[in-house]
Amino acid sequence: MNILMLGVGGFIGSNLAAHLLANSDHVIAGIDDNDEKIADIQHERFTFIPGDVRRIGDKVDDLVRWADVVVDLIAYANPSIYITRPLDVVNLNLFQNLELIDRCIKHRKRLVQFSTSEVYGLSEGRRKPFSEDETNLVMGPVKKQRWIYASAKELLERIIYAHGQQDGLDFTIIRPFNFVGPKFDYLVGPGALGGPRVFSHFMSALLTGGPMQLVDGGHAHRSYTHIDDASRAIQLIIDRPSACHQEILNIGSPQNGATVRELAHLMLDLYRELTGKSSEAKLVDIAGTSFYGEGYEDCDWRIPDIRKLEALGWQPRINLRDTFRSTMAWYLDRIDSADELPSYLRAEAVSLA
Ligand SMILES: NC(=O)c1ccc[n+]([C@@H]2O[C@H](COP(=O)([O-])OP(=O)(O)OC[C@H]3O[C@@H](n4cnc5c(N)ncnc54)[C@H](O)[C@@H]3O)[C@@H](O)[C@H]2O)c1
Repeated sequence: MNILMLGVGGFIGSNLAAHLLANSDHVIAGIDDNDEKIADIQHERFTFIPGDVRRIGDKVDDLVRWADVVVDLIAYANPSIYITRPLDVVNLNLFQNLELIDRCIKHRKRLVQFSTSEVYGLSEGRRKPFSEDETNLVMGPVKKQRWIYASAKELLERIIYAHGQQDGLDFTIIRPFNFVGPKFDYLVGPGALGGPRVFSHFMSALLTGGPMQLVDGGHAHRSYTHIDDASRAIQLIIDRPSACHQEILNIGSPQNGATVRELAHLMLDLYRELTGKSSEAKLVDIAGTSFYGEGYEDCDWRIPDIRKLEALGWQPRINLRDTFRSTMAWYLDRIDSADELPSYLRAEAVSLA
């Protein structure tokens, strides 16, 4: 199968491309405006096309024509951007995608679109796993700017669904629940605000001895999915077009639930186990509005219902501890052994001493 991956240079894209090359015969063409995380992928079935999708429309069109399936991973996906650059989020994550949908309809190609588990929004006290075709999508107030990301993704899903109904678009929508693994976002200096997602903040703090900042008490509860489990699920979705035709699917590990505070303790413990010494990083409370800016609000609880994926034969295999243990080990190995680190593995003053 010919697969076009948009956003191949990101966290999910780089891991998924490596997984598919190792576990299938698929031929992959990948587009991204950043190649750092795929620099290690050299394979005869992999072609990288550098560029900003907003500026290489003709090339994208040719590649959509070439592909059997288009996997779209491009988005701004960091909460700080939702608050500091909300219009950029809508322009890239929603409007830019409308062009891609049109190209898929024109060339009659299947679209696998990455959405987000954030579309479920606020749990409002519900403690029932979020299910794709039943759970209401509950966004916070407009002045809580954080929800612009989820709202844009929700509208994107609704437009894709409508094209499925009206134009017969062959699509599958994926809602990821907090994937974690190698090449996740980028490391930051001690005490940095905003920026990458929580694993990268905590990993940076452990390495630099900076604070592990617990936003709004660190009470937010999430379930974390190892990227290898996620990549197996995505491969299944790619390989089973009829079973996934016009479906929305959660990918997550419901048994891997933890609050952000619990995660901080787990990572401190794993750091000791992996390095044989304690990190100087300390847990520090910080308000969400100080960390991300005015307009921040969070969902307190988010656990997936994965019955649809289970029915296709997928189950997550990697538990919470092993998810973080293996991911942290990957970072420690890289940082310890490499002379020249790619920029996403460099935090100011990183020192393992
Ligand atoms: N990682 C998760 O747990 C998670 C959770 C929910 C949703 N998602 C969704 O999954 C998708 C991928 O997430 P990720 O974690 O890999 O994010 P990521 O930021 O690591 O990857 C996105 C990639 O898109 C590229 N990109 C952005 N704008 C571009 C442009 N104009 N032209 C070319 N390339 C561009 C970036 O360089 C980056 O490599 C996103 O749509 C995100 O919203 C991910």
